[in-house]
Amino acid sequence: MEFPFFELDFAGNRLLIAVVAILHVMINHPLAVGGALFIAMMERRGIRLGDRQWDQAAYRLLLFCFIITTSLGALTGVGIWLSAALVNPGAIGSLLRVFFWAWFAEWLVFITEVLLIIAYVETWKRWDGPRKAAHLRLGYALAAFSWITMALITAILGFMMEPGAWQASHRLVDGILNPLYLPQLAFRTCLAMAMAGAMGLVGSWWLSERGSAFRQDLVRFSCRWMALWSLPLAAASAWYLAVVPPVMLERAPTALGTMRGEGAYPAILTAIAVLLGASAYVALSGWRWPRALPRWSYALPFLALLVLLAAFERTREFVRKPWVIAGYMYANGIRAEDYPLYQAEGLLKHHPFASVRAITDANRLQAGQEVYQIACATCHTTAPGGVNSVHARFEAMLGQGPWRSAAVGQIIASMHGSRAYMPEFPGIPAERRALAEWLVAQHAIHRPGAAAPATTTPSPAAAATAAGTER
Ligand code: HEC
Repeated sequence: MEFPFFELDFAGNRLLIAVVAILHVMINHPLAVGGALFIAMMERRGIRLGDRQWDQAAYRLLLFCFIITTSLGALTGVGIWLSAALVNPGAIGSLLRVFFWAWFAEWLVFITEVLLIIAYVETWKRWDGPRKAAHLRLGYALAAFSWITMALITAILGFMMEPGAWQASHRLVDGILNPLYLPQLAFRTCLAMAMAGAMGLVGSWWLSERGSAFRQDLVRFSCRWMALWSLPLAAASAWYLAVVPPVMLERAPTALGTMRGEGAYPAILTAIAVLLGASAYVALSGWRWPRALPRWSYALPFLALLVLLAAFERTREFVRKPWVIAGYMYANGIRAEDYPLYQAEGLLKHHPFASVRAITDANRLQAGQEVYQIACATCHTTAPGGVNSVHARFEAMLGQGPWRSAAVGQIIASMHGSRAYMPEFPGIPAERRALAEWLVAQHAIHRPGAAAPATTTPSPAAAATAAGTER
C-alpha cells in the first residue's frame, strides 16, 4: 500500500495551510465582508448628494474587489480545503461530520454571494435613474451574504478552540454556539469593517484627483468610517480576550515569537500597539482635517490592520495546540479517545494510515518513518533548514551529532511535558525507539560530516558534543 501522507520538503505542512488561510482572510475580510457594505454606503452617498464622482469611485472600487475576491480570494478559499484535507484529513473529516448542515448552508450562501456580486457589478451602469434604489439594495444584500458566510465559518473556528457543550451533547447547535463564537464573530466583523475604511483611504490615491474637493470628501468619509468602527473593535477585542482560555493565552508568546523569540513578545505587542495607535491618529485627523493628512499616511491604517489580522490568525491557530479540535482531536489528527489504545497496543498496529503493522529488524527504519509521518509531520519538516525542521530542533538540544538514539527517544518521551503545545507521543516504546533510530539515520544523511560512523574516529568537535550528550 502506498503511504498516503503528504509532506512539503521545506515549508512544511503547517505553513502551507497558514499561508493559504491567512491570505484568504486578508482578502475576504476587507474586500468582501467590510468592502461590500463600504461600497454600498459610497453608492448611497452618491445618490444622496447627487454627485456622480461618488458613484464612479464606488464602481471602480467594486471592480477591484470583484476581480481580487473572485480570483485570488476564491482560489485561496478552495486552497484551504485542499491543503487541510491533504495535511490533516482526520480533522477535516470530523469537522465535516459535526458541521455538515452548517457547511451545506454556507455553500448555498457562498453561491448566492457570488451571484450577487456579479449582479451588483453587471447592473451598475444599467440600473440607473429610477432603478438606482433597487441597485443599492443589491449592494446591501451582497453585504449581508458576505457577512453570513464569515459568520458560519467563524462558528467552526471557535469550535476548534473550545467545543464547549458539544463535547457532551454532540449537537450541532451546541457546536455552533461554542463559548468563543460570538466574541470572535464580533471581533472579525468590526475588524473587517475597519479594514474596509482603511482600504477606502488608501484607495483614494487612485479614486480621486489630488487636491480636489472630492478627494477631501472621500478621505473624510473613509477616516470617519474607520474611527467609528474602531470603538466597537476595541470592545470586541476585549470581549474575545476575556473568553480565550488562560492556558491558551499563555502560549501567545511562542505563537508570535516562536520558541527562540518568546522574549520578544512584549516588543511585538508594543509594535502592534504603536501601529494601531498611529492608525487611530490618522483616522481621527483625516476625519477632522482631511486636507492636511499627508499622502504617505493613507496606507498606514491598512498595513497596520493587516498586521493585526495576521497576528490574530497566527496566534489563534497556534495557541490551540496541541489540539486541532480542543479536547477532541490532537494536531496530529489522532482523537484523544484513541490515544489509550495506540499507547497500549501500538500506533502502527491500529492507525488507518500505517502500512507497517509490526516492527521487525528489517522494517525498523520504515516503521520509524511512518511513525514520524503520523506523529510529527503535521508540524515539523525533515528538510535541513526547513521551517521548524525536526533536525534543527534536536540539534539545539543534542548538538550536531552523532546523536545517540536513546537520547533522542528520551526527548520524544517527555516532549509533551516540556512543551505542552506538542501532543504526547501516541505510540508504544518500541515505536518511539524506531522513530528515534530513523531520526538519527536521517540526521546522518543530512550531516554526513558530523555523524561519523562509530567505527571511525570522530572529529574533535563531534567527539566533544557526543561527550556532552553522554552526561
Ligand atoms: C502540534 C504540532 C507539533 C507536533 C505534532 C510535534 N511538534 Fe515538535 N514542536 C512543535 C513546535 C511548535 C515546536 C517549537 C518550535 C519553535 O517555536 O521553534 C516544537 C519543538 C520541538 C522540539 C524542540 C523542543 C525543545 O524543548 O527545544 C523537538 C525535539 C520536537 N519538537 C520534536 C518533535 C517530534 C519528534 C515530534 C513527533 C513525535 C513532534 N515534535 C511533534 C510542534 C509540534
